[in-house]
Amino acid sequence: HEHAHAPDEGFSFTGPFGKFDKQQLQRGLQVYSEVCAACHSLKYVSFRDIAALGYSEGQVKAFAASKQVPGIDPNTGEATMRPGLPTDRFPSPYPNAVAAAAANNNAIPPDLSLITKARHNGSEYVYSLLTGYQAQPAELLKEFPEAKTPDGLHYNPYFANLNLAMAPPLTTDGQVTYAEGNPEPTVRQMAADVAAFLTWTAEPKLEKRNQTGWPVLGFLLFATVLAFLAKKQVWSAAK
Ligand code: HEM
Repeated sequence: HEHAHAPDEGFSFTGPFGKFDKQQLQRGLQVYSEVCAACHSLKYVSFRDIAALGYSEGQVKAFAASKQVPGIDPNTGEATMRPGLPTDRFPSPYPNAVAAAAANNNAIPPDLSLITKARHNGSEYVYSLLTGYQAQPAELLKEFPEAKTPDGLHYNPYFANLNLAMAPPLTTDGQVTYAEGNPEPTVRQMAADVAAFLTWTAEPKLEKRNQTGWPVLGFLLFATVLAFLAKKQVWSAAK
C-alpha cells in the first residue's frame, strides 16, 4: 500500500525542535468533535485535558456539558445519558460493540486516542488516509478483477488492506467552519488539523520529550570534556 506522507507544509511537531501549534490543535478538536465523534471515541482523553490546548476552566466545563455521556439515573439505577463533566472521557457514540458494528457495515470504528502511535508514521498516516480516497485504479482491476472493492467498502491506497468500511469523512471544503483568523477549512487543512490533534491525544507530552534532550546533550558534552581532561592529567607523566 501507499507510503503515508505529511501535508506539503509539513507538521509543526516533527523534528527535535518540534512544537504543537495550539491553534491547529483547537481546529483539530473541532473537526474531531463535529465529524469524527459521530463514530469514534477518545477513551484515554478527558474533557479537562483540552485545557492544555489553551481553553479556560469555564470553556472546558461548557465543552464537557455540551456532550452527552453514559451515566446512571440516581433514582431508578438505570443506564441513561447525562451531560459530561470535565473528568469524563470523550465517549463512544455507541452503547456497545454490537451496535457499533451494526451501524458500520460490520466494522467497529476504533478508538482514536492512540491511533497515531498504533500505526507507522501515524500523523502522516491519518492525514494521508483522510485525503487518499480515490477510484480503484483500472490497471489494478484489470490484473486482479477479484480485488474489486466490495459493496459498502471504500478504496483507499493508504489503508493496509486497501478497502475500508469508513466512508470518506471529509468530503467538502468548508465542512467545518473555523473561527476568524484561521486558515480556510479545505479538506487538506481539516485533515492536517485533525491529524495534529490525534498526535496530541496520543502524546500530549511530545514537546516535553523533545526539550528534555537538550540538557542531556549538554551534560554529555560536559562529561566528555571532563573525561578528556582527566585522561590528559592521568597520563601526563608517561612519555
Ligand atoms: C477507521 C479516522 C470519521 C467510521 C478509522 C481509522 C482512522 C479513522 C485513523 C483507522 C484505520 C486503521 O485501522 O488504520 C477518522 C477520522 C475521522 C473519522 C480522523 C473524522 C475526520 C469517521 C466517521 C465514521 C467512521 C464519521 C462513521 C460514519 C470508521 C469505521 C472504521 C474507521 C467503521 C473501521 C474501518 C475498517 O476497519 O474497515 N477512522 N474517522 N469514521 N472509521 Fe473513521
